[in-house]
Amino acid sequence: MITTIKSNINFFIKTFGCQMNEADSEKLKALLIHNGFNYSDNFNDADIIIMNTCSVREKAEKTAFQYLNQFRSHKRDNPEKIIAFGGCIGQEKKKELLKKFPGLDLVFGTESLLKVPSLLEEIRKKRRRIYDTEWDKENRIINENIPWVKNGKITGFVPISRGCNNFCSYCIVPFTRGEEKNRPFISVMEDVEDAVRNGIREITLLGQNVNSYYDGDKSFRDLVGALNKIDGLKRIRFMTSHPRDLSEEDIQMMNKCAKVCEHFHLPLQSASNRILELMNRGYTLEEYDKKIRYIKRLKPHTIVTTDIIIGFPGETEKDFEDTLNYVKKTEFDSAFTFMYSKRPNTKASELEDTVPESVKKRRLQDVIDLQEKISRCINEKYLDKKENVLVEGICKNEKLKLFGKTRTGKAVIFSGSDELVGQEVDLKIINTGPHTLAGEII
Ligand code: SAH
Ligand code: SF4
Ligand code: F3S
Repeated sequence: MITTIKSNINFFIKTFGCQMNEADSEKLKALLIHNGFNYSDNFNDADIIIMNTCSVREKAEKTAFQYLNQFRSHKRDNPEKIIAFGGCIGQEKKKELLKKFPGLDLVFGTESLLKVPSLLEEIRKKRRRIYDTEWDKENRIINENIPWVKNGKITGFVPISRGCNNFCSYCIVPFTRGEEKNRPFISVMEDVEDAVRNGIREITLLGQNVNSYYDGDKSFRDLVGALNKIDGLKRIRFMTSHPRDLSEEDIQMMNKCAKVCEHFHLPLQSASNRILELMNRGYTLEEYDKKIRYIKRLKPHTIVTTDIIIGFPGETEKDFEDTLNYVKKTEFDSAFTFMYSKRPNTKASELEDTVPESVKKRRLQDVIDLQEKISRCINEKYLDKKENVLVEGICKNEKLKLFGKTRTGKAVIFSGSDELVGQEVDLKIINTGPHTLAGEII
């Protein structure tokens, strides 16, 4: 699959958006390195500037265009540079971007990743402007095994499926990433084995809805069960679990596999059944709550994190209070909270945006403040406790300070020698905050 085009060209990648985009950028980076390009972490030194973008909310789009304009003005003084723009906005807006932004050389879509090296070569040789945003409508599976690059990283993302069939009414992802496609079981296994050979000790399996993964007769549970047996791999995480599709059997299996960490990311979005229905989420609050209680009953120290949207069209003060009360009662370890953003093509974009901006802002702040309090209290319970931490690296500015994560995903900093990177160590927690813990080696 990989053709080596030798060059001494430097490239830089700026990534926006979710873990799927981060995974794609890592893959693209490895692919370009295998093709003889050199990675640079500073765009000033790069011959090729690549943007991997996100359109999930309007703000994410705005930020991407601010960067694009910055790179375009940099190009005015360096006209030989190439600017490539890909990911979800590339897919959404396609060739329109080339018309709108002189100076932009390449627009690539969410299924064009593997073609990027050859597209860049074509641009360099022929000085043409190109867009490539076609989707493969025939194949329901995806092949994307790119050899990992040894770069000292301990944790890595492994997409197991792409796209989404759920069409939650607010969400643009089904339009930017297309229908759900699963990766073959065997390619995921080979990919993770290769990751481990290259130093990765913890993987996070990615999909918009990991529980719906299948390949022939193999399910998500079969995949996790098989990955759990890979020598050298220490930890397995996964996201996102869809509250409709996460089954009791899934929860039991995750608990059985020793390498699977005690963490479910289970986006709630809203605790009002009326809003959940308008969102087309496919579950009620009662069904959601039953799953959380089952998770906690089987392994009480398992943590649950969530996503919440504030100000969905029609959200009343009562709907919002329901969400706030449910957050209070459930005590999520952390929550990503978003202000509703109207997105093109989505069903919800046809609904009247009834909640004034000032009300959305106040509601968002209320839920952020509440969650901060809860996270702080939960983390305080870690004080003086023993925790097993996978050491991920050395903190940039603090000498001798290592960082890692507990199995429950809490970030911990502590003193220790560089050689511990990649190993699991037992720490005593000596300080806590809402986002980070501090520890010392036992
Ligand atoms: N597939 C995952 C995550 C998708 S995007 C899931 O179903 O949970 C991540 C989060 O962004 C979503 O969970 C949702 O909370 C938020 N989000 C998506 N579209 C949004 C929109 N239009 N406005 C505000 N938040 C949005
Ligand atoms: Fe978007 Fe819903 Fe799919 Fe998640 S499950 S990506 S929120 S459509
Ligand atoms: Fe991810 Fe943003 Fe695309 S959240 S899937 S990069 S729209």
